[in-house]
Amino acid sequence: MTDQAFKLRELINENSPEKVQIGDARIIAISSGKGGVGKTNFTVNLGIALSKLGKKVTIIDADLGLANIDILLGLVPRYTLTHVLKMEKKLSEIVVEGPNGVSIVSGGSGVMDMVNLSQAELSRLIESLEYLNSESDYILIDTGAGLNHSVLSFIQAATELIVVVTSDPTSITDAYALIKNIGELDVSVKVVVNRVESNREGQDVFSKLNTASSKFLDLELENIGYIYEDYNVKKSVKKQVPFLIGFPNSLASRGVELVAENLDRNSKYVAPNGGFSSFIKKIFKK
Ligand SMILES: Nc1ncnc2c1ncn2[C@@H]1O[C@H](COP(=O)(O)OP(=O)(O)OP(=O)(O)O)[C@@H](O)[C@H]1O
Ligand SMILES: [Mg+2]
Repeated sequence: MTDQAFKLRELINENSPEKVQIGDARIIAISSGKGGVGKTNFTVNLGIALSKLGKKVTIIDADLGLANIDILLGLVPRYTLTHVLKMEKKLSEIVVEGPNGVSIVSGGSGVMDMVNLSQAELSRLIESLEYLNSESDYILIDTGAGLNHSVLSFIQAATELIVVVTSDPTSITDAYALIKNIGELDVSVKVVVNRVESNREGQDVFSKLNTASSKFLDLELENIGYIYEDYNVKKSVKKQVPFLIGFPNSLASRGVELVAENLDRNSKYVAPNGGFSSFIKKIFKK
């Protein structure tokens, strides 16, 4: 940890120890095999739920798809991580404040090429992440769907992965393919089943995925919860207001809050040497 971060932490602990603790962030990639299963909605609302638990959260939008975080929140970030890598902006200038104090960083096209960065760009990326790490308890990375290079780089760098899946059979097989491809790595794999009609349905989907990966990949998955099919999600997307804010008592909001509580309670699956230092090591290793 940098001296500055240490001082900041001390200062904050002195002033409001119960409120916010700033430390080594948990770096969680959020991904799915198939697109359109609800990753971005989940990421944004999970960020808000964690922030309601008193955590400092930064979301990195590393997905260049259309329905991205900015659109979901009605924010118009002018600058992205790409501007930072090109030295046109400082990281502090590109961070946008989202709902409930959640910080949003847009990846821009630069993040697609993380492994092809020049040495100078890489150091700037690391500096930026170090800053984010000192400012956050959680860094959530919305990676986009599928098995492309950038998605895998982010997952490999993170210490935890949340796979979002629905009961749609192709979503399950694609989630399995994703897990199979990252299975060798030192990340803990957590599963959220989205758009369920009952807890039973969520349990069934989780079991299918977990049975296959335990049997064929020798990898035990962690069930961190289910989110119900809820019309309020669609309404909140239209209004560009996250459902945890617009419909705090909805079924979907309750589901995400339970996931946040599960996640926050349970840190035992985090690699012991996880956190920022391992994130950087893993990026450098490649
Ligand atoms: N729990 C839910 N209940 C009802 N509808 C949902 C739910 N979750 C997601 N949706 C619907 O699915 C749509 C897609 O969600 P979202 O954009 O979050 O998916 P994504 O996985 O990020 O997609 P992409 O792969 O394109 O980035 C939403 O606009 C919403 O209409
Ligand atoms: Mg998305």
